[in-house]
Amino acid sequence: MSKYLKFLDLGNQPLANNYLRKDQLIKKEKKYRLKVGINNESKLVSIEKPLSSKIMFNQNYPYRSSMSKTMIKSFKNLSDFIKKKFHPKKILEIGSNDGSFLKNFSKKKSIGIEPCSNVEQITKSKGYNTYSEYWNKNTAKKILKKNGKIDLIYSANTISHIQNLDEVFKSINIILKDNGIIILEDPSLLECLKRNTYDQFYNEHIYVFSLIAIENILKKHNLEVFHIQNLKIHGGSNRYFIKKKNNKIKIDLSVKLNRDKEIRYGLNNLKTYRSFAKRVQKSKKLLKKLFMKIKNKKKIIVGYGVTAKSTTVLNYCKIGKKYISYFVDTTLDKQNKYTPGTRIPIFEYKGLDNKKIDYIFLGAWNFKDEIFKKEKNFIKNGGKVIIHTPVPKII
Ligand code: TMP
Repeated sequence: MSKYLKFLDLGNQPLANNYLRKDQLIKKEKKYRLKVGINNESKLVSIEKPLSSKIMFNQNYPYRSSMSKTMIKSFKNLSDFIKKKFHPKKILEIGSNDGSFLKNFSKKKSIGIEPCSNVEQITKSKGYNTYSEYWNKNTAKKILKKNGKIDLIYSANTISHIQNLDEVFKSINIILKDNGIIILEDPSLLECLKRNTYDQFYNEHIYVFSLIAIENILKKHNLEVFHIQNLKIHGGSNRYFIKKKNNKIKIDLSVKLNRDKEIRYGLNNLKTYRSFAKRVQKSKKLLKKLFMKIKNKKKIIVGYGVTAKSTTVLNYCKIGKKYISYFVDTTLDKQNKYTPGTRIPIFEYKGLDNKKIDYIFLGAWNFKDEIFKKEKNFIKNGGKVIIHTPVPKII
């Protein structure tokens, strides 16, 4: 019988993307207990108690994939690859956000599904065919009726947000052509464990996938992975290329290599997760110590890029306004609000002034390279950077 085995407790957490307006500060926020575990049969790693999609993904969703040059470039490169390799006549994106991926394809060919109507409207306003719906069988049937079958389905950082994975793939099977391709992209569990990025877990990230778990889910739906790309995106992601079993495309070596790598690291073994949990507890202590040491010297620390991931770190490590004076972020919908749980003010990013800021804490550590390039003058002039992965340190 399959069992869910808990291995990590990240404490009481607020909704990770629920940035608070000033008038909301008088109210107590709803918190939930963030625990992580693994299914002993499917090896699927998930948070213990997922919240309802409607609470998390609605017309107030603040995330915009267009906020990072890294993402824009990655979407453009993948789109070029898709056009060259698969020549899709019709392409569907599940979780199309503000259209950063679809904009690389012609409007006639593309369909976007995005339940958060505020971001869905951005893509629609550019002339794209979008639906403000959750991905399920009803949505698949509705789209099938209006648009016919689909050649290629893409979904980045979305499937890990949907609790019912069987419904996800049943819905995909309703609409995908027999020779159609699915491309899924999500943070890699192996990289998460290796880099100690426990902040990949928050209420929206119900799952962090391994290839092992993905294969166990897919086989119930007559689907299989035929190619994998390991990406640097979001601190290490996997891009899974998936086909129907009766499609004759060859399964290439990348699949076996990735599977072997995961098995060698011990992703099949509960012991691996228990030692990860110990490293996470140690990381919490070290990060707090680092902040205390800096603050004792009366230095000013500013958060850089407020992310759902940083909500997990700050609330788990209990790092609040005492340590971080404020956050800066380029996303309009996060500005002039407060971080969930820790209630640190968030301001518009207007560059970093060495006279006013001694340290930045990288909330958006997943865009470290991009940020280091952008802030080379701040660093050259003595500005320091705090990062919590793979171990808390000052760069
Ligand atoms: P994410 O990790 O959930 O993708 O969020 C990244 C956040 O960081 C997003 O709110 C935009 C912000 N950001 C900046 O403020 N400046 C930057 O240079 C980058 C790359 C991201």
